[in-house]
Amino acid sequence: MIPINAPQIGEEEIAAAVNVLKSGILTHALGSGPMVKRFEEDFARFVEAKNAIAVNSGTAALHMALIAIGVKRGDEVVLPSFTFVATAETVIMAGAKPVFVDIDPETYNISLEAVEKVLTKKTKAVIVVDLYGSPADLKPIREMANKCGLKVIEDAAQAHGATYNGKPVGAYADVACWSFYASKNMTTGEGGMITTNDDAVAETLRLIRSHGEKEKYKSILLGHNYRMPEIEAAIGLVQLKKLPNFLAKRKENAEKLTAKLRGVKNIKLPCEPKGCGNSWYLYTIKIEDADRAKRDTIVENLRREGIGAEVYYPWPIHLMPYYRKFRKGKLTETEKASEQVFSLPVHPGVTAEQIEFIGEAVSRLVRHV
Ligand SMILES: Cc1ncc(COP(=O)(O)O)c(C=O)c1O
Repeated sequence: MIPINAPQIGEEEIAAAVNVLKSGILTHALGSGPMVKRFEEDFARFVEAKNAIAVNSGTAALHMALIAIGVKRGDEVVLPSFTFVATAETVIMAGAKPVFVDIDPETYNISLEAVEKVLTKKTKAVIVVDLYGSPADLKPIREMANKCGLKVIEDAAQAHGATYNGKPVGAYADVACWSFYASKNMTTGEGGMITTNDDAVAETLRLIRSHGEKEKYKSILLGHNYRMPEIEAAIGLVQLKKLPNFLAKRKENAEKLTAKLRGVKNIKLPCEPKGCGNSWYLYTIKIEDADRAKRDTIVENLRREGIGAEVYYPWPIHLMPYYRKFRKGKLTETEKASEQVFSLPVHPGVTAEQIEFIGEAVSRLVRHV
């Protein structure tokens, strides 16, 4: 099976992890051992942010970001429903109410018009997701947020290396949250990062990361243990160096696949919004005339031929059993996308021959369902 994503781990990552084990420094009680510090510096430089705070998952990053920008019980946070569940669960963990809104069917990212319709006096923040590694249209959302006194969190978990208006994604948000989960464009196994240009928010984030401690055993606010271990940071430093090559290969594979699939009837190919660079975390297509059953049959048939097609995401969050209580009516474009999309492998381990094979199989199977 050609997997939808696969960690690209080599001898350098193994050596980096072994060196940490030999050093005896596995973690740091206040959250920033020597490897974590270096990883934060290099990552901040990569995304052109003033501060980077390394943590142990993208979910932790989102949770802390919400708390650090001041989200609390009784607040409302507006977000898309067409995303990974962590985007929503962390809003509830922070004590706030998630308000789900629809997407733009072209980009699958949050629709500004939809956000504007649900704003209330209780709205505190908007979470924007760069789904599939395709940058959301942040500038108009930033302008709206400034006008209404709202904070903007960018869930960039899938968007390492993506650019918006010529800058790394995250530039227009108050905080950007990243994941280094094993499937991501770069990985530390599990792990996450928060980047921000706001020094005060960064300081709060560092405190929350490690039990609210600035000094050991003297907590000054309510915190967690969201620390990143040194081994992960050492692996992350190597992965970050390799990221430009990973991204170039993803782009090359995506472009080849687009050339193969262009012209196949009823397929909507992934878009790269004008002025943006995708990270190509997922190459997602939509079968425009499909219902859920037809889409699922195509995915099953592809998998039978050894192509690890996957659906991201088959159930929008507002339709998941736990989250239905937050549902406020139909999200037409979100629900349609969840029935019609599926993703294909373009990760750096996919060869040119495999891209040819994937393109041929998709063209054939889409026609025959
Ligand atoms: C859009 C999105 N948000 C949040 C997360 C959560 O990240 P993690 O798995 O590192 O907790 C992920 C990844 O899994 C994601 O894809």
